[in-house]
Amino acid sequence: MSITVRAPAKINLHLGVGAPREDGFHPLTSVYQAVGVYDDLTVVDADGWLVDVAVSDWMDRSHVPLAGDNIVDRAAALLAAHHGLAVSGDVHIEKAIPVAGGMAGGSADAAAALVGLDRLWGANTSDDDMLALAAQLGSDVPFALVGGTALGTGRGELVEPVADAGTWWWVLVPSPIGLSTPEIYRHFDRLFPDAPAVPPMPEPLLAALAAGDPHALAAALHNDLQPAALDLRPDLERLIAAGESAGALRGVVTGSGPTCVFLCESSDQARATAAELREAHDVVLVTNGAVAGAHTVTYV
Ligand code: C5P
Repeated sequence: MSITVRAPAKINLHLGVGAPREDGFHPLTSVYQAVGVYDDLTVVDADGWLVDVAVSDWMDRSHVPLAGDNIVDRAAALLAAHHGLAVSGDVHIEKAIPVAGGMAGGSADAAAALVGLDRLWGANTSDDDMLALAAQLGSDVPFALVGGTALGTGRGELVEPVADAGTWWWVLVPSPIGLSTPEIYRHFDRLFPDAPAVPPMPEPLLAALAAGDPHALAAALHNDLQPAALDLRPDLERLIAAGESAGALRGVVTGSGPTCVFLCESSDQARATAAELREAHDVVLVTNGAVAGAHTVTYV
């Protein structure tokens, strides 16, 4: 049996970050959107357990932990333990989501592994159990299962869909050099010692989504981690200015960065913006959202 599961990248339309909790995680008020950049994970029957990862040339492979420490190994161990099964399978991952880019690529792989291995092993895990296992694997993994446009609370792992009337066009500019998420959060703590216990709800952004209004959404995009990312990577400030002067409505850093995302009014505006940014940047992607969470695309 061979099963291929496709899992989307996420961008943050809003990322509100509070002061660190006792467990070290930060309380979040996040609005996630799944966009059409995917990792494909294929699982095949096998007696043993093997994971291999193919990344594009331009990605920062140093951030992909291999040799038993990959998030996919942890997903398999957790699902197997939940059902009292032994871990087995050959897993191949084709990465298109930028590595260490702030787009939850590792979380997408974990979500895809849960969906694929559940099917391969005939485990029939309930949706609630899948979400609970996902939350143990990482803050963004439940969203990678759910997809669409969703509000994330807690440390980001509690997700619920929000009203979204738009088709949103994005230009994404990943960076060949990744940023470490824990390092960005530590820098956030230094910059904002008075962060609130619970970050407030982004009401204007939720209203813009429900109305499908790109100009209102552009004005409301916000990321509390952006100052920390720009401090460590001042070049991103120039990139954001370049995208906005190329025609995008607004550019922001997504998640913990360094990927920058540009909201455009239409597919034409996104293509024109991307063409101009390609003069100075090797990898510039045009995509749209919202798209589905982790789902099976082939099953033979
Ligand atoms: O949950 P996840 O494994 O994706 O988190 C990676 C790291 O990002 C954590 O170890 C922590 O340093 C930081 N993080 C955080 N608060 C969150 C989510 C992540 O501090 N809500």
